[in-house]
Amino acid sequence: MNNQLVIVLDFGGQYSHLIARRVRECGVYCEVKPYITPVETLASLKPLGIILTGGPNSVYAEGSPLCSSALFETGIPILGICYGAQLVAYLNGGKVEKAARGEYGGVKLTVTAPESPLLSGAEPVSTCWMSHTDYISEAPEGFITTATTDTCPYAAIENPGKRLYALQFHPEVAHTECGTKILSNFLINICGCMGDWKMSEYVKNTIDALKAKIGDKKVICALSGGVDSTVASVMVHKAIGKNLTCIFIDHGLLRKDEGDTVEEMCRSKFDMNLIRVNAQEQFLSKLAGVTDPEKKRKIIGEEFIRTFEAESKKIGAVSYLVQGTIYPDIIESGLGDSAKIKSHHNVGGLPDVVDFEEIIEPLRLLFKDEVRKAGIELGIDEALVWRQPFPGPGLAVRIIGDITKEKVALLQEADAIFREEIANAGLDRSINQYFAVLTNMKSVGVMGDGRTYDCTVALRGVTTSDFMTADFARIPYDVLAKVSSRIVNEVGGINRIVYDITAKPPATIEWE
Ligand code: XMP
Repeated sequence: MNNQLVIVLDFGGQYSHLIARRVRECGVYCEVKPYITPVETLASLKPLGIILTGGPNSVYAEGSPLCSSALFETGIPILGICYGAQLVAYLNGGKVEKAARGEYGGVKLTVTAPESPLLSGAEPVSTCWMSHTDYISEAPEGFITTATTDTCPYAAIENPGKRLYALQFHPEVAHTECGTKILSNFLINICGCMGDWKMSEYVKNTIDALKAKIGDKKVICALSGGVDSTVASVMVHKAIGKNLTCIFIDHGLLRKDEGDTVEEMCRSKFDMNLIRVNAQEQFLSKLAGVTDPEKKRKIIGEEFIRTFEAESKKIGAVSYLVQGTIYPDIIESGLGDSAKIKSHHNVGGLPDVVDFEEIIEPLRLLFKDEVRKAGIELGIDEALVWRQPFPGPGLAVRIIGDITKEKVALLQEADAIFREEIANAGLDRSINQYFAVLTNMKSVGVMGDGRTYDCTVALRGVTTSDFMTADFARIPYDVLAKVSSRIVNEVGGINRIVYDITAKPPATIEWE
């Protein structure tokens, strides 16, 4: 088993998690630790290398996050990036000052010492990504300069004897042309990592660790059918089997056949201990006549919590509650405080109603694409692993106006046709989210010889990397034509289809 570990020591930089991901992309297992982690603790983990991240502070300012100088005496190879580079310089006797002019964005980098093991194979001149106002104005004794920019005399410095390396620029950012090469040089050539770490290993190690931690204690999980909660619960199930109880609340606002698909996967494929709560009528009756989107959300959120509470009470006290928190859900202060979890719209409040001792988050170190890889390793169907995001309140936010059973059924059919045709056109992985919306607009149409007065369905498809901003997907007209024709022909009560061509901002992805 490959136990090679590299630690990313987090000083609060916005790219700390990105560094961790790039390291794993180089085939090296890596964990992010807060900067206040004592040197002895870090050393006891026997990392092959440590990367000091960027951060918003100035190393010379009072109260700035520092690491102990003892770290540089451990003999563990260290790579400082941006603020981390300034720390390497400052704590080893160099000078860091505020520059007259900061450097932001793409900057020309010139390698001055091509024999540097860190810069080996990097282009003599390339573009690197900078984001700093402070700069290293004097390198510490024993360090040599290996790269410069027009305004940065020490863009890269190193002391190979002490195995210390520092980069003012960000090798983890895609705009740094030689970034991957440089990171790989550090990990493989300098730290001596094998570069053969794979997701399968992470999955196996996590399952072993969960087994050892949980033993024969009882665990509970709220399963939504979404990628994160599914991967987390299957992982825990593989570790402890039937001692995990998954509670799946079907609020009746899921997509067509979704409840059955989730149940089928849990029971037939993995033989999991699943409680499916069929609460469709209960949710619909609470929502009857409600048109305000925020009220709908509130009702669903509260009803969800109450239902989960009632079910978990039947089980009684458990030792652990599993949550599918993933890395982007975590706001790490970088100040050594325990990480704060963004309250997830879907499961926020669960910890308050379940009688448990500790939360388990087996995916908290992973990015979405890594979670998907883990899901595939666990044997979860591709269709589920590649499921697009779906809001916790489900179709309630996609039915404008009041919600009825009939409207839900209508929207489920239209949405299923849209998704089927997007998949048929091979677009299901390039469009990040796509769905149908039932507007509360009716208009006149003509079908056969008759006049109709039916609903308008809006189709929404977006491309986005983070769902904070998005563009509307350029779905080919012939695909849209087929979807439109199928929906009006196959689903009664709809006579008009529109495609939403607004970006976010100004629009949101969901209509509500
Ligand atoms: P908006 O509509 O704000 O949505 O542009 C951004 C992303 O968030 C999803 N979304 C939710 N996800 N629970 C969730 O888990 C929710 O209550 C919720 N509301 C919106 C939305 O589908 C999109 O991907």
